[in-house]
Amino acid sequence: MFVCVCNAVSDRQIQETVAAGASSLSDLQATLGVATCCGCCADLAVSYLGKRSDSQATPATNGNLQ
Ligand code: FES
Repeated sequence: MFVCVCNAVSDRQIQETVAAGASSLSDLQATLGVATCCGCCADLAVSYLGKRSDSQATPATNGNLQ
């Protein structure tokens, strides 16, 4: 799903960027452009920063069906 509609940034892209070492909203902004327009997605984008686990990064908002 898209986290950042303004810049068409998906939750998957954010997860991959966090897994690659992003540790702040600034890192995500610099890499993906997330939260650089209206800013509505900033809180959700930040919520991914603490989820660096390789196998259990399954945010409740990812829309996966089991
Ligand atoms: S939804 Fe991300 S900057 Fe607008």
